Amino acid sequence: MSKELGIKVTLKAALTLDGKIATASGHSKWITGEAARHKVHELRNQNDAVLVGINTVIADDPELTVRGIENGNSPVRIVLDSKARIPENSRIFQNDGTPVIIATGNKALSRKWPNLPDLKILTSPTATPEITWILSELHKLGLKSLLVEGGSFTYASFLKSGAVDRLVLFIGPKIIGGQEALSWCGELGVDQLDQALQIDISSITAVGEDWLIDAKIK
Ligand SMILES: NC(=O)c1ccc[n+]([C@@H]2O[C@H](COP(=O)([O-])OP(=O)(O)OC[C@H]3O[C@@H](n4cnc5c(N)ncnc54)[C@H](OP(=O)(O)O)[C@@H]3O)[C@@H](O)[C@H]2O)c1
Repeated sequence: MSKELGIKVTLKAALTLDGKIATASGHSKWITGEAARHKVHELRNQNDAVLVGINTVIADDPELTVRGIENGNSPVRIVLDSKARIPENSRIFQNDGTPVIIATGNKALSRKWPNLPDLKILTSPTATPEITWILSELHKLGLKSLLVEGGSFTYASFLKSGAVDRLVLFIGPKIIGGQEALSWCGELGVDQLDQALQIDISSITAVGEDWLIDAKIK
C-alpha cells in the first residue's frame, strides 16, 4: 500500500448506477447532485493534493480548488500529462496561489509554460509518469495525502499500482447505458473473476439524492 510511500491515497469518483463516469461523448456534468459535490470539496479540503489525468483536464477543464467550505484550503493540483499537452488556458492555471504540478514523461516535447510562480513541472524518468514514481515525488515534497479524481484510465493506473488506501464512490440514481460510455475503472487485466479486486465496504450512506460508498481494497 501507499503507506510504504508515506502518502495516503483516496480515489474518488462520481458514477451512475451502471458504473459510468461520462457519456460516450465525454459529458460528465453532473452525475451527482449538490450535496455530493459539496462532499467532494470537503474531501479536497482534507487532502494535501488532488490529481487527475490529462484527458479529464481536456474534457472538463476543472479548477480542482476548494469552494464553499469555511476556511477551506485548496490542495496542490497535479496533472498526469506525459506529452505536456495541457492547454495553456486551462482553468487550473488561473488560480494563482494554489500550486500546480504537471507530471510529464521524458519524451515530452519542450513547450512554453504559463508564467506562474506556483507551477512545477516534474519530468519522470520514463515516457509515462508511473504511479509509484509520482507518489515518491509527492512524498519528497512533504505531501501526505492525495485525492485521485479521475478519469477512468487514471483510476485504473492507481488501482493496478496497489497504492489506493480508500475508495469514495458517489453513485447518482441515473443510468447512461451503452458500450461506449466510460466505465469508472479502466482496464485492470482481469480475465477470471477470482482475479477481480476484492472490496471491503465500510459504509453506504445517502448524500442528498445520491449514495456514497466508502470502501477499502482487501
Ligand atoms: N464522473 C467522474 O467522477 C469523472 C471524474 C474524472 C473524469 N471523468 C471523465 O473521464 C473522462 C476522462 O477519462 P480518461 O480515462 O479518458 O482519461 P484520464 O484518466 O483523465 O487521463 C488519462 C491520460 O492521462 C495521461 N497519463 C499520464 N500518465 C498516466 C498514468 N500513469 N496513468 C494514467 N494516465 C496517465 C495519459 O495521457 P498522455 O499519454 O497524453 O499523458 C492518459 O491517456 C472524461 O470524459 C471526464 O469527463 C469523470
